[in-house]
Amino acid sequence: MKAVEELFPQSLRRTLVELRRTLHRYPELSGKEERTAAALHAALARIEPGPARLERVAGTGVVARIPGRDGSRAPVAVRGDIDALPISESTGLSFASEHPGVMHACGHDVHATWAVGAAHLLAARPAAGDVLILLQPAEETGRGANAVLESGALDGVAAIFGAHVDRRFAVGEVVAQEGPLAAAADTFEIELVGSGAHGARPHEAADPIVGAAALIGALQTIVARRVNPAYPAVVSVGSVRAGSAPNVIPDRATLTGTLRATDPDTRRLLVEEVRRIAEATAAVYRLNANFSIELGPPPLVNPPEPAGWARRAATAVLGDAGVVPLGFVNMGGEDFAAYLERIPGCFLRIGAREPGGEPIPAHSPRFYAAEESIFVGAAVLAETARIASEAVS
Ligand code: NI
Repeated sequence: MKAVEELFPQSLRRTLVELRRTLHRYPELSGKEERTAAALHAALARIEPGPARLERVAGTGVVARIPGRDGSRAPVAVRGDIDALPISESTGLSFASEHPGVMHACGHDVHATWAVGAAHLLAARPAAGDVLILLQPAEETGRGANAVLESGALDGVAAIFGAHVDRRFAVGEVVAQEGPLAAAADTFEIELVGSGAHGARPHEAADPIVGAAALIGALQTIVARRVNPAYPAVVSVGSVRAGSAPNVIPDRATLTGTLRATDPDTRRLLVEEVRRIAEATAAVYRLNANFSIELGPPPLVNPPEPAGWARRAATAVLGDAGVVPLGFVNMGGEDFAAYLERIPGCFLRIGAREPGGEPIPAHSPRFYAAEESIFVGAAVLAETARIASEAVS
């Protein structure tokens, strides 16, 4: 950790802490990060020597191009996401949210700050080639990464890196490894359509509520009986809507739920099986099933070579003891996976629990990342960009 502290002069420490606190105090929801984007644009514009290019992308995103020693090399990118969640904060922090019902409960205030911190470090000690610092909007809705890709801002980028704060790990611990790091997160909706009748005369109805009850049970057999137990998967029904009165059989019932898998084959299997079981169960109960799926982020799987660069960087910054295994399968989704479908790269997890602190889960109203994680994330991402930039050209 001493090596990290030496990288940040007092004035830069103050700048980054102040930026993080401002972002945390004024959180904004996905796609509405206007004030956040303006603050980040201003923070990047103040870096000395200045970015070769600084522009808004994908609505409320910002990209800064930090010059390398040789501008003719293919650039690499460092991404920090910037959006907040519709949660009322109860951290008790002195810089707690002043936007009612909105909160940085996933640590993106720190992700954005360490991307700016990495820009400072790379301006002071440039990589071989240019580095794009990407502040990405709308991670929580799973739409931001695709919007950035569509904008063309990453065309020609040779490698991309990003990270997430994690209070299951102490400040100074970093996960930088190949393989699965986050799950695909797809959303399904099933509308069961029958015909309504008086609750006293069920034989005149085709009852979607009884069909929905059977369907919810049948969906639980997918993970238990169809997915290879060696591959993690989740099928959760999260909402059930039907009916308006105790003595009325309604004509339709609607279920929604989430599907999680860490590999593409299991992901496809879950979608096919939910559809098949929905249609077959509907037929048994004389109903029709309207099935729809909204594909979210794909599984996030770090390829070996870029993961090796990130690991080398983390070891250089924190020593061998600072690089720790993930140690569990993460069934959360992360839209950074969309970049990795097109560009080599690695997604890391950065320890964010202060000494004596609790492992508060992300998306809790009590969640915050320890302040010192700003500097670890910035230092590791800057060094990863330097090692990758050297390696890709
Ligand atoms: Ni997050």
